[in-house]
Amino acid sequence: MQWRMANGAARICRRILDLQYISDLFCPRHSERGERPLRMEITQRPDEKLILVLSPATVTTGTGTGIRAKKFARDEIGRNLLRMRNADRQQRAYSSSEHKSEKSVTKQFTHRFKFVNGVVAQMQSLIETLRATAGGSLSLVCGLALAVMLFVWAAFEAFRAARRLYFDSHQQRMSLEKLRLQLQETKLRRLDAEQTQLTWNGCRKFTVAKKVSECDDVCAFYLKPHDGRSLPAFKPGQYLTFQLDLPGRDKPLIRCYSLSDCPHQKEYYRVTIKKEKAPPDKPDVPHGASSSYFCDVVKEGDILNVKAPSGHFFLDMAKTNPVVLIAGGVGITPMLSMANAIVASGSKREAWFFLGVRNRREHIHKAELEKLAAENENIRLHICYSKPGDGDVKGRDYQHEGRVSADLFKELLPSNNFEYYLCGPGAFMKSITDGLTAWGVPDEVVHFEAFGPATVKKTAAAPTREETTHLAKINVTFSRSNKTVRWEPSKENLLEFARAQGVKIDSGCCAGGCGSCVVAIKSGNVDYLKKPDAETEPGTCLTCVCRPKADLVLDA
Ligand SMILES: Cc1cc2nc3c(=O)[nH]c(=O)nc-3n(C[C@H](O)[C@H](O)[C@H](O)COP(=O)(O)OP(=O)(O)OC[C@H]3O[C@@H](n4cnc5c(N)ncnc54)[C@H](O)[C@@H]3O)c2cc1C
Ligand code: FES
Repeated sequence: MQWRMANGAARICRRILDLQYISDLFCPRHSERGERPLRMEITQRPDEKLILVLSPATVTTGTGTGIRAKKFARDEIGRNLLRMRNADRQQRAYSSSEHKSEKSVTKQFTHRFKFVNGVVAQMQSLIETLRATAGGSLSLVCGLALAVMLFVWAAFEAFRAARRLYFDSHQQRMSLEKLRLQLQETKLRRLDAEQTQLTWNGCRKFTVAKKVSECDDVCAFYLKPHDGRSLPAFKPGQYLTFQLDLPGRDKPLIRCYSLSDCPHQKEYYRVTIKKEKAPPDKPDVPHGASSSYFCDVVKEGDILNVKAPSGHFFLDMAKTNPVVLIAGGVGITPMLSMANAIVASGSKREAWFFLGVRNRREHIHKAELEKLAAENENIRLHICYSKPGDGDVKGRDYQHEGRVSADLFKELLPSNNFEYYLCGPGAFMKSITDGLTAWGVPDEVVHFEAFGPATVKKTAAAPTREETTHLAKINVTFSRSNKTVRWEPSKENLLEFARAQGVKIDSGCCAGGCGSCVVAIKSGNVDYLKKPDAETEPGTCLTCVCRPKADLVLDA
C-alpha cells in the first residue's frame, strides 16, 4: 500500500504541479520501517524545493521560492489524499474482514473456486458455439478468437491513449495557468517601471473633470492631468497629496486623499472625500477646512495642485493569497481601490470585503460595490449597518446589523488564515486589531492606515518604565522660538509637543505622508514611531511621527 500511495502521490504532484523531477518519493527511514507519514522532497529546479509531508490525516507543504500553485496544489493534493485514504481504509477493512476467521476464508475460497469454474464453463460453451458457427473448422475458430483478442487489445490501447490524452490536457492547463501567472508578474513589473518613469516631482496641475455626489456629505472627484499627458499607475491603497490655495490663508493647506479607483485606470485619478463636520461637543468650531472646500466649493473645471501618488499602505498585487479588506466609513477609499485592482488584473484572488457604516445615507460607493460583488464571485461583500434607517432593507442594502468586528470574521471566515487590510476611524481600527490579535492573527499580516495620527498610536510600542524615566529627562530646544522645555513622555510626537508649547510648525496629514511638518535638527537625534511615507533629508525630521531620543535642538 505504501508503494502504491507513494506512486499515486507522485503522479498527483506531476499532474498538479507540473514537476518534471521528483526525488525522494518518500523518506527512506520511514519507508524502511514501513511507517507513515511519508515525507516527499520534490525539486523542480535546484532553487525550488517543495516538501510535502503526507499522512493519512494531514498534508502540509513548504516551499523554498515561489511555487505559485502551492495553495491550489495543497487543496488538490489534500482532496486526492482523502480519496486515497478512503481507498486505503476500504482495503484495510476488507483485509481485516478477510482474516476474521478461517471459516470465512474457506467460504471465500469456495466462492472464488465456483467463480473460476463458472468462467471456464462459459469459455467452453463459447468455444463450442464458435465451433458450431464455424461448421467445426478449427482454423476459423482460431481466427475468430484472434479477432476477439485483437479487438480487446485495440480497446485497451484506445483506453490508454484516452487516459494519456486526459493527463496531457490537464498538464497543459496547468502550464497555461503557470504562464498566465508569469505574464501577470511581468505586467506588474512593467507597470512598476512605468510608474517610476511617469511619476513627477513637486506639484502637477489637475483639472476636476467630474464631481459626483456619492451620499450624504461625500463627493467623488475625477481628476485629469491639465497637461494632457499620461498618468502613472499607482499601487492600490496609495494616496494623492493636495496643496490647496484656500481663500484667506497665507500658506497652502496640505491634505492627503486616498485614490479610490482602479490603479490601471489611464484616463483619470479618483478621490472620494467626506466633509468633516465640527465635533458634536464643539459645534462652534469651523468644519474641516479642506474637506469642506472640496465638497462645498470645488467644481468641475477647477484646477488643483497635486503631488504624485505615494504611501506604503498598499496591496501587493504580485501575491495571490486571500485577503480581508475592512473599512469603516470613508476608510472605504483604499479598500475599494484594492478590490478594483484585483478584479481588473483578472486574478481570482479571494477578497472578503467588510464595510461598516451607520445606514444607507452613509453607504459610500454603494452601486459600485454591489456591481463588483455581483460580477465577481471572488469578491465577497459584507455590509454592516450599525443604525439602519427606516427604508433600509436587510439582504438588499446590507447583510449584518451592528458593527464590523472580529466576532463577525470568526462567524463568516473559514479560518483566520488571511492577510488583513484595515482603514477607518481610530476607535474602529483599535477594536478590530485587538480582536484579530485575540483571535491569534499574527501582527505581520495585519496592515492598516488611519486618516490621521491614529496610525501612529497603534504602531508605536508603549514605552517601558525605564524608557519613560529616560524620556522625562530629555530637554527639547526650539532655537528660533528661543525655548528650552523638558520633554513630556505623555505627548505622542514632537509636533503635538511643539504646539502645546506655542511653537508653530506647519503640518498637513499628521501621519508622516505629506512632508509638511519637516524641521531641521541642529543637534541630537529622534526615534520614528512608524516608517514615514514622505522622504526626509539627512539632518531633518518629520515632527508628526517622531519623538526625541536624547537632548534635542530643533530649528523651529
Ligand atoms: C493617508 C491619508 C489618506 C486619506 N484619505 C482620505 C480619503 O480618501 N477621504 C477622506 O475624506 N479623507 C481622507 N483623509 C483625511 C483627510 O486628509 C483630512 O484629514 C480630512 O479631510 C480632514 O481635513 P480637513 O482639512 O477637512 O479638516 P481640518 O480642518 O483638519 O479639521 C479637522 C477636524 O477638526 C475640527 N476643528 C477645526 N477647528 C477646530 C478647533 N479650533 N478646535 C477643535 N476642532 C476643530 C473640524 O471641525 C474637523 O472636524 C486621508 C488622510 C490621510 C493621512
Ligand atoms: S504633517 Fe504630513 S508628514 Fe507630518
